[in-house]
Amino acid sequence: MNTILVINGSPKGKNSITLHTCLFLEKKFPGYKFDYLDAGQRIKVLEKVFSPALEAIREADLLVFCYPVYTFLVPSQLHRFMELMKGSGLDLSGKAATQVTTSKHFYDITAHRFIEDNCADMGLPFLDGLSADMDDILSEKGRKQAMDWFEFTLWKLSRGEFKKPRIIEGKGIRHLATVPQAVRHEEGKKAVIVTDLLPDDDGLKAMIDRFIAVFPYGCDVINIEDFPFQGGCLSCFNCAATGKCVYKDGFDDFLRGTIHKHDAILYAFRIK
Ligand SMILES: Cc1cc2nc3c(=O)[nH]c(=O)nc-3n(C[C@H](O)[C@H](O)[C@H](O)COP(=O)(O)O)c2cc1C
Repeated sequence: MNTILVINGSPKGKNSITLHTCLFLEKKFPGYKFDYLDAGQRIKVLEKVFSPALEAIREADLLVFCYPVYTFLVPSQLHRFMELMKGSGLDLSGKAATQVTTSKHFYDITAHRFIEDNCADMGLPFLDGLSADMDDILSEKGRKQAMDWFEFTLWKLSRGEFKKPRIIEGKGIRHLATVPQAVRHEEGKKAVIVTDLLPDDDGLKAMIDRFIAVFPYGCDVINIEDFPFQGGCLSCFNCAATGKCVYKDGFDDFLRGTIHKHDAILYAFRIK
C-alpha cells in the first residue's frame, strides 16, 4: 500500500479548503494510507525541530504539497518549509511528489512551477498537480475533477511516468559589478531599494552599490533581513478590514510610513 503524505502549507491549518480537497480524496480512495503534516501552521516549531517532518517524509511514498496560492506563489510558511527540507539533505530516493492547490487561478502556474522546480532540485520525481478553484470542492464537477486527477496520478505513479525535470545546468562565470564614481544626486525625489541581503551576497551588494552610484536621485536601502518579522501572512484578512496586521511587529506601519513614502521601490534579491 502506498503511503501518501499531505504536506499542508496553508497557514489556516485544519480550516484550509485545499486540505479539505485532500481529506475528500482520502475518503474516496480508502485503499491508500494518508498522513498529514501541518507545515503551514507549525512552521515556527519545525524551524526549531525539523525531525518530525523528516520522519513523516521518510515513511511516505508520495508527497503531496497541498497549499493555497498566495500572491502568485506559495504561502511564505511553505516557502520556508521547502528551504528546511532542501537543507536537511534527506535521502528522497524511491519517493515521488505532486501538488494540490486551490486559488482563483491567478498565477497558479507560478506557484506550481516553484514547487515543481524545487522538487527537481531535490531529485524528486514529479507528477503534474491539481490546480482547483477555491470553490471546486463544493460542486459535483469540481469533486469529479479532483478524483479523476488523483486516479490518473496514481496510474502514472504505478507506471513510473514522471515529468521531465526542467533543470538548467548553470556554468556561468561570475563577474562582480563595478562601482563607478558616484554621480551628483539631484534633490526632489528618492528611491528605496528593498533587499534581503546576506553577508556573503557580495554580487548583489556590488549591484546595489553600483545602482546607488549611477542613479541620479537619492536612494535608501532597506534590508528586510534585519526586520524582526513575527511570521508570514496568516490569511486572516484583518488588514483588509482595518489596515492593521494582527502581528505586532510593526511592519504594517513601516511599510506605509517608510517604504511607501519613497518615489520608487526597487527589489534587490538573489534568485535561487
Ligand atoms: C493573502 C492571500 C493572497 C492570495 N493570493 C492569490 C493569488 O495570487 N492568486 C490566486 O489565484 N488566489 C490568491 N488567493 C486566494 C487563495 O488562493 C484561495 O482563497 C485559496 O482557496 C485559500 O485556500 P486555503 O483555505 O487552503 O488557505 C489569495 C488569498 C490570500 C488570503
